[in-house]
Amino acid sequence: MRELIISLVQTINGSYAQDGWSTGVSTKADFSYFTSLRKQAGAIIIDRRTALNPALPVINAPGKALEHTPVHVLTESDPAELSRQLSKAGLDYRAQHFTPDTAAQVLDDLESTNETLVCESGPNLAYRLLDAAPGAELHLSLSPLYSRNTGSHFSQLEATLNLRLIDVRTVDDQIFIRYAKA
Ligand SMILES: NC(=O)c1ccc[n+]([C@@H]2O[C@H](COP(=O)([O-])OP(=O)(O)OC[C@H]3O[C@@H](n4cnc5c(N)ncnc54)[C@H](OP(=O)(O)O)[C@@H]3O)[C@@H](O)[C@H]2O)c1
Repeated sequence: MRELIISLVQTINGSYAQDGWSTGVSTKADFSYFTSLRKQAGAIIIDRRTALNPALPVINAPGKALEHTPVHVLTESDPAELSRQLSKAGLDYRAQHFTPDTAAQVLDDLESTNETLVCESGPNLAYRLLDAAPGAELHLSLSPLYSRNTGSHFSQLEATLNLRLIDVRTVDDQIFIRYAKA
């Protein structure tokens, strides 16, 4: 069965970005864990805003480790418009529409080079997928940091998701917590 790993890093006060960037809430240990997840990925999932952010490096650029890994951009908005925007930006990413009802099937059907999908989106898409995908695992990386400024980013999803703890480990001051749906 397909596995969906949802990767998120946050501060102790639940912020997913600092000054508009997740880099601000990440650490060396977190980045190393993030890249280890990438190595397992048969496909990467990101959100529309992340995909269209011109300041971010292209995930599957020629010469990169993920050059041949499909990158899927999941959106509840118009996928045709998103496809146009991606192609105008010269990005070899695939726009894919989903709704809470179709998400599980959409994830099963995504082109992938192996059975592990890794979601690197921000929290709004990440928690929607955790809610919708029965076998999803959340890999939450907790940084030893409290931070709130105008560029902080929080999940706006209104939902209740009950989780089950799979594993906890620490590297330096970073805590990695793995959860599955209860
Ligand atoms: N900490 C981390 O692990 C992590 C990872 C990635 C990014 N980030 C950071 O997150 C920030 C960008 O987040 P993002 O908003 O692009 O990604 P996001 O939190 O996943 O939200 C993006 C998508 O969620 C959907 N959405 C639906 N309702 C929303 C709402 N009320 N508010 C916002 N989005 C809503 C929209 O998608 P559709 O309309 O297309 O359906 C939107 O494009 C950046 O600062 C980035 O650095 C953090």
